[in-house]
Amino acid sequence: MPTITIDGRKIETQPGKTIIEAALNNGIFIPHFCWHPALSVAGNCRMCLVRVGSHKKNADGTLERDSEGNPVVQWMPKLQIACATEVTDGMVVDTVGEKTIAAQHAVMEFLLINHPLDCPICDEAGQCKLQEYAFKHSRGESRFAEEKVHKPKRVAWSDRIIFDGERCILCSRCIRFANEIANQPVLTFVERNDHVTIELFEGTTFDSPYSMNVIELCPVGALTSADFRFKSRVWEMSFTPSICPGCARGCNINIGVRDNQILRLEPRPNPHVNQFWMCDAGRLEQYRWVNGGRVSGAAVRREDQLQAIGIDDACQMAGERVANAGGSVMMVLSGSITNEDAFVAQQLAAFLGIEFIGYIERHDPSFGDDFLRSSDRNANSNGIRTLGIEGITWQELSHRVRKRSPAVMYFVGADPFADAADGWEEILSSSVTVIAQVSNHSRLEEFADIVLPAATYAEVEGTFTNCDGWVQYLKPAVETAETLRRVNGLAQSRLDEFGAPNDRWTKGERRLCRPHWQLLSGVAARVGLRLTYHNATDVFAALSDKVEAFRGMNYEALCQYRGIRLGMGSNPEPVGVVYQSHFMKPQSE
Ligand code: SF4
Ligand code: SF4
Ligand code: FES
Repeated sequence: MPTITIDGRKIETQPGKTIIEAALNNGIFIPHFCWHPALSVAGNCRMCLVRVGSHKKNADGTLERDSEGNPVVQWMPKLQIACATEVTDGMVVDTVGEKTIAAQHAVMEFLLINHPLDCPICDEAGQCKLQEYAFKHSRGESRFAEEKVHKPKRVAWSDRIIFDGERCILCSRCIRFANEIANQPVLTFVERNDHVTIELFEGTTFDSPYSMNVIELCPVGALTSADFRFKSRVWEMSFTPSICPGCARGCNINIGVRDNQILRLEPRPNPHVNQFWMCDAGRLEQYRWVNGGRVSGAAVRREDQLQAIGIDDACQMAGERVANAGGSVMMVLSGSITNEDAFVAQQLAAFLGIEFIGYIERHDPSFGDDFLRSSDRNANSNGIRTLGIEGITWQELSHRVRKRSPAVMYFVGADPFADAADGWEEILSSSVTVIAQVSNHSRLEEFADIVLPAATYAEVEGTFTNCDGWVQYLKPAVETAETLRRVNGLAQSRLDEFGAPNDRWTKGERRLCRPHWQLLSGVAARVGLRLTYHNATDVFAALSDKVEAFRGMNYEALCQYRGIRLGMGSNPEPVGVVYQSHFMKPQSE
C-alpha cells in the first residue's frame, strides 16, 4: 500500500488512487471544479493544483535532513493537478503552502475575468461553487478593467434545461455526464480561447431521461432548470432528506420547500442506491400532487352529499362499518404507502379476520431502464411483500370483487380512478360501502361513503424498501395542520424561522390530514384493537421486532448507513465517504 504525506500528515492509500481521491478519503479537501468521482478525469479547470515532491535521500538510502532535523523534500518544478496525478509511495503533497495558495488565487482570477456579475439574479447564488471558492480561495479582487467577453445566454438545451454561456466555467462536467452517464453524447465545446462555449450538435436536443442531473453537477449557475428558474432564492427554502416515490428504485432526494409548498426535488448522493443521480420524471412529477388537489379534512356521505366531519369521528364511523361487515371487507393498499402504514393495516386486517388484504401492482415496462428507473412504479412493493402482503392488479381485483361482493371496500392510498383502471364505476356503484383513505381528490370520492384524509410521502416519517431491498428513511418536509415546523423537528428556512403571521410566506396551505398508520389506528380503536403507537418510531420498533427481515433496524441506523438492506439490521454495510460537490449547497443532513 503506498503511503503518502499530505500537509505533514501520513496517509496510507491504495495504488491507482489520485491525490484528490486519497485526500478526500482522509478528510482533506482540495478545491476543484471539473473533477467529479462519477466522471472521467478532464483536468481542465486547474483549480486542484498542488505542490508535489518526494523526500531526498542520502547515498546510503537514509532520508536527507535539514539543520532542524526535518526531512528535505525535492519538489517538482511545477505544480501538479491533484485530480490526475496518481499517488506513489513516499509522495509528499502540499495543499496549503504559499505556492499552492498563489496558484488557487491565480486560477480564480482567470475564471472570474469573464464571469458576469449575475449573482443577484442567478438561481445558483447561495449554493454556487464559484461563490464559495471566491470567498475561500481567491484574492477577492479583480485587476481586469477591460470589457468582458459576451456569449450566448438563455439557450434551451431542451424544454427542461437552460444554458447560460457567460456563466459557464468550461469544466466539461455536463459534456462528460452526457457522454458517460446519460449515454446521449450531444454536447461539445466550440470556438477557441476565451470565446469557447458549449453547443449541441446540430439538430439534437439534450433530453435524456436523466438530463437534469447536469443542473446540480454544474458547479456554477450556467445550467438552470426551466421548471425552477426564478421561483425562489435558495436561502428562502428549507431542504429535507427524503426518498423519491416515483418508482421502486427509491432515489435519495432533497425536498426544497418554501411557504409549505415544494418548489423542487433534487438528487441526494447515496452510493448504495442512486449514486448522485435521479431521473427527470421523478424530479418533475413527484411534487406537484403534494402541492395541489389535496383532500383536507374528513367527510361522510349523508343524504347523498359528502359532508365535513372531524377525523376522529370519521375513523369511528369507518370502524363501525368494518366491524359490522363481519369480515366481508376487502382492504386495498397502495404499493407506495410506508412499511409502517402497511404493518398497521395488516394488524387491523388480522384482528378483523377480513377476507382480503393486498396491494395494487403498478407495472409500466415503458418506464423501466437498465440504470435507475424501475418498471415497478410503486415506491414500496418490496417492503409490503416482505410483510407478507401480496400484490394484485386492478383487473384481478375487479374479478375478485365481482365474485365475492364484499360489504366494505377499504382503499388505503389506492385509487382505481387515479390509475385509470377499467370497470370501477360499475363496481363501486353497487351497495358496497366505500372507505376512501386518500391524499388527493379523484372520482373515488363520488362513490365514497367515508373519506379519510391521508398525508403524502412528503408529510410523514416512515420507511420505504426499494427494489434491491434497501430500507430507507423518510422525513417530513411539509407541515400539515397537525404538525408544526417549530415543534416537530421539521427543517426550517430563514423565512419559516423568522416570519411573522402577517408575512406572505407564512400563508401556505396546511392540509388537515394524517399518516395512513395513524388513521388505521383510529379505525382499530373503534373495533377494539388497542394499538399504542404514539409516533412512527413506535410502529417501526414493533415492526422490526416482529418481522425477521427488519430485525435490528431503527431510524437512527437507517440514517447513519443511508439505508440498510433487508436482513442486514445487525450488520449494516458501511456507506464510506460520500462526496458532496457543493458545500454551500443547502445541506439536509
Ligand atoms: S455548463 Fe456548467 S457543467 Fe457544463 S461546462 Fe459549463 S460550468 Fe461546467
Ligand atoms: S428512478 Fe424512480 S425513484 Fe429514482 S428519481 Fe426516477 S422515479 Fe424517482
Ligand atoms: S479538478 Fe483538477 S483540473 Fe479541474
